[in-house]
Amino acid sequence: MPKEALKVAIAGLGTVGGGTVKVLQNHADEIAARCGRPVVITAVAALSKEGLGFDISGYAWYDDAVAMAKDADADVFVELIGGSEGVARAAVEAALNAGRHVVTANKALIAHHGKALSRLAESKGVSLNYEAAVAGGIPVIKSIREALAGNTLKRVQGIMNGTCNYILTTMREEGLDFDKVLKDAQDLGYAEADPSFDIDGVDTAHKLAILTSVAFGVELNFKDVHVEGIRHISAVDIQFAEELGYRIKLLGVASRENGTLEQRVHPTMVPLDSPLAHVEGVFNAVVIDGDEVDTVMQVGRGAGERPTASAVVGDITDIARGISLPTFSVPADKLESVPTRDMNEHVGAYYVRLSLLDQPGVFADVAAALRDHQVSMESMIQRAREPGEPVPVVLTTHETTEANMRAALDAIAKLDSVTEKPRMIRIEG
Ligand SMILES: NC(=O)c1ccc[n+]([C@@H]2O[C@H](COP(=O)([O-])OP(=O)(O)OC[C@H]3O[C@@H](n4cnc5c(N)ncnc54)[C@H](OP(=O)(O)O)[C@@H]3O)[C@@H](O)[C@H]2O)c1
Repeated sequence: MPKEALKVAIAGLGTVGGGTVKVLQNHADEIAARCGRPVVITAVAALSKEGLGFDISGYAWYDDAVAMAKDADADVFVELIGGSEGVARAAVEAALNAGRHVVTANKALIAHHGKALSRLAESKGVSLNYEAAVAGGIPVIKSIREALAGNTLKRVQGIMNGTCNYILTTMREEGLDFDKVLKDAQDLGYAEADPSFDIDGVDTAHKLAILTSVAFGVELNFKDVHVEGIRHISAVDIQFAEELGYRIKLLGVASRENGTLEQRVHPTMVPLDSPLAHVEGVFNAVVIDGDEVDTVMQVGRGAGERPTASAVVGDITDIARGISLPTFSVPADKLESVPTRDMNEHVGAYYVRLSLLDQPGVFADVAAALRDHQVSMESMIQRAREPGEPVPVVLTTHETTEANMRAALDAIAKLDSVTEKPRMIRIEG
C-alpha cells in the first residue's frame, strides 16, 4: 500500500518561503520517488497574498501563522518568517505543542531558544530541523549530526555571512573603502537596509553558537560568543594583508579544549595559500576538523532563495523518510554545560597598524611597549613618508595572549607620536 503523503504548512512566503514552495512544486515527483511518499503543501501563511509570483490557490490560507501552527491539516510546520521572538517563536512553540515536526531557517530563533525548543520537540516526539539556519545551502548540520558522528570534533570554523564576504572581496578587488562598498551592496540588494546584524558579526555569531552546540554536544551559549564585525576594516588593511601574504575574512571559530570552549567571530587574516582565502564574494565555507576524518571543507552559497530553500526541503524530506535525530547531535538533557573561555585568554598572532609621527625614538617607544607586555614582533612594514604627515606602520607579532596584546596596544595608544587608535586584526595559522 502506498504511504500517505507528508503534509506541510509553510509560514512566511518571502525569499526563503517562496523558494521552498517552488522547490516542493517543481521537484514533487523526484521528492516523492526519493522519500517513498509524496510531500504536499496543504497550508500557507503570510501577511499578504499579493504579488507572490507562484500559485498558492490549492492551499489553505492563513494570515495568522500561530493559528496555522495550531490548526492546519499538516504534519510539518515550516517557519520562514524570521526573528528570535514574536510570531516566529510563538508559532514554532504552538506547532511543537500540537505535535507537529518543525523545520526552520531561523538562526536567531535557534541561537536564542534552541535549548528550550529542542526539549519541547523531544517531549512531543517530533523533529526540530534547521539546516538552512547555518550557511544556507551548505549541508553542514547534516554532515556533523550524521556523516561525522564517528569523530570527536576538535574545531569548526567558517565564513558564514555572504554579505561580509562580498564586501571584503569587493574592497580588495576594487581598492574601495568599506562605506562605499556597503552602499553599493545595499543598492544591489546584497546587503539589508539595516545591515548591522550582518556587518557587526551577529548573524555569524548566531550560526557559530548553533554549530558549537552540534559539533561538541554542548548547550547553546550565544551570549558568550566573542563578536566583532568588519566596520573598522579599511582598504589599507586589505592592501597590507596582501603584501604580508594574507587575506582578511570574517571568520567564526569554535573549538573545545581542556574543558572549555572557544567561540569567537572577528575579522581574521588567513594565509593566501589556505583554501578559506579563496572563498570569495557571497560564497560561504565551513571547515570541520575531526580526529578520524582529519579536515573536511564545504563551500557553497550561504543565502539566497534557491540554496536556502534547498536546505529547507532537505530537512522536510528527512521527516518524510522517517529520519529523526536529536536536535543538537545528542538528546537535550545530555548536552554538556561547558564554559566559554574569556577572549583575553586567546593565544594567537596579530597584525597591528599604527599611524605614527616620524620623530626620533618613536620606534623605540613602540618596541618598548611591546616588550613590556611580552609581545614579540615578527615583521614590520613602513610606508614612505610625506613631510609632516603621519606614517602608516604595520607590524605582525609572534603568538601572544589577547590580554598581552591589548595591554600593549593601550600603552602604544598613549604615546604622543601615535595619531590614531591602533588597529589590530588577528592572524589565523
Ligand atoms: N534570505 C536568505 O537568504 C536566508 C538565508 C538563510 C536563512 N534565512 C532565514 O530565513 C527566514 C526568512 O527569511 P527571508 O529572507 O525569506 O525573509 P523575508 O523575505 O522577509 O520573508 C519573510 C516572510 O514572512 C512574512 N511574515 C512577516 N510577518 C509575518 C506574520 N506575522 N505572519 C505570517 N507571515 C509573516 C512576510 O510577509 P510580507 O512579505 O507580507 O511582510 C514574508 O513573506 C529568516 O529567519 C532568515 O534569517 C534567510
